[in-house]
Amino acid sequence: MVKISIVGAGSVRFALQLVGDIVQAQELSNAKTEICLMDVEEERLNATFVLARKYAHELDSSVKIEQTLSLDRAIDGADFIINTAYPYDKRYLKDGYERWDRVTSIAEKHGYYRGVDSREFNMVSTYSYVLASYPDVMLALEIARKMEKLSPKAWLMQTANPVFDITQIVKKMTSAKIVGFCHGVAGFYGVCEALGLDPSKVDWQVAGVNHGIWLNRFMYNGRNAYELLDEWIEKCSANWKSENPWDVQLSPAAIDMYRFYGMLPIGDAVRNGSWKYHCNLETKKKWYGDFGGIDNEIERPKLHESLRKMRKKMLQLAQEVQTNSKLELTKLWPEVFRKGKTSGEQHIPFIVAVACNRKTRLVLNLLNNSVLEELPKDLVVEVPVWVDQNGLHPEKIDPPLTDRIVYFYLYPKITAMKFACEAIISKNKNVLIEALIRDPRTKSYEQAISVLDEIMKEPFNEDMRRYFNW
Ligand code: NAI
Repeated sequence: MVKISIVGAGSVRFALQLVGDIVQAQELSNAKTEICLMDVEEERLNATFVLARKYAHELDSSVKIEQTLSLDRAIDGADFIINTAYPYDKRYLKDGYERWDRVTSIAEKHGYYRGVDSREFNMVSTYSYVLASYPDVMLALEIARKMEKLSPKAWLMQTANPVFDITQIVKKMTSAKIVGFCHGVAGFYGVCEALGLDPSKVDWQVAGVNHGIWLNRFMYNGRNAYELLDEWIEKCSANWKSENPWDVQLSPAAIDMYRFYGMLPIGDAVRNGSWKYHCNLETKKKWYGDFGGIDNEIERPKLHESLRKMRKKMLQLAQEVQTNSKLELTKLWPEVFRKGKTSGEQHIPFIVAVACNRKTRLVLNLLNNSVLEELPKDLVVEVPVWVDQNGLHPEKIDPPLTDRIVYFYLYPKITAMKFACEAIISKNKNVLIEALIRDPRTKSYEQAISVLDEIMKEPFNEDMRRYFNW
């Protein structure tokens, strides 16, 4: 038996896609697999449950699917726990997006464009460090602590953000086995497509930390494929146009970072540059195309609304399916209910690799040890890893990252994460203050205190206020 629990199963972005990957995986699509869907929102959970069962039935899978509101029940006896939850205080907020929006708008009033958490090398909205992410960190710790008692051998597959900070904090404070997942690495395939390269013929590696990975190896048919990228830049980059707010992989910002750092940033790393690319919407548009990327005051609220609409559609569809069993999900909403095609997420290939010993290459967040020799051994890094039943075997990183990436990009990002870790471990509010003092937008000590004060006073931040004795 393999028990896979999805925490935050009401998520439109993950649960049903992961169920689709399970029921399409030959090794898992049978009665020996149990999927446990867990959420705190009964209506969303039930909708996912109804749709997941219908979807599995449509794809002739005999996996067992259950639902629960109890975290203990989801964790008890699980082999794999996928955390995709976005927690929020129901008394004051309608979802996790609103929590982040509120903290951001307070910060903007005090002179912190896009929020105190959107800082140099961490411009990726909603994937922040302590102030906007306190509940996410606490939930991951709660899951990990319960795992120590109820399923000590299980893998915690951390997907909810901030993956970088949470994986480190959980490693430092618990003994749970944690591995971080991010689909940002898909940016590599975008590069191949633009250059007309068959990815299966590319010898490639990425390395760095979550939301900060770089294409350190890029060879095609024995040739340095960076030469092909240089040709593309010369011939095509002037005509590059962003097709949607997420389409930034070959934006002027990415090319500029490539020129400065000596390797191409991949996926979310492109969004995580310095203030050079981010200081206002006009600047963002110059570097990321007509939409200015996704991390701005126009596109981010639009995204939140579209995800809410998808959630509504999911609830409605669950009702329809219950009254009309002839409906076919794979025809009604093929972008979510895929058939003959998987989601591209790495979770289920990881589970198949570990549980069924199908050796697979993935890009994961795990303890460095000495994979990246220039970085601390106890840091969680994002690198290519071979996975099988014996565990995770990271590749030797060759060639190494450039010094500019290590010292000018990764170290500042690591220091920001260390502030977050230290704040959580020490419960000391001075660490939060000190982190903000170092933000170039802070013009005075009073400014830092007043923004923190207002964020802490939000009723939905009551726990955080007590935690830091604010
Ligand atoms: P969402 O709000 O649509 O779904 C999250 C679910 O978590 C909701 O159904 C909510 O009811 C549930 N939840 C809230 N508190 C909970 C608790 N205490 N226990 C169990 N469930 C709880 O959010 P969305 O858009 O799916 O994002 C979820 C997370 O995934 C965010 O942290 C986001 O940043 C992250 N994310 C990660 C990516 C990756 O590649 N690693 C990519 C995209 C998003």
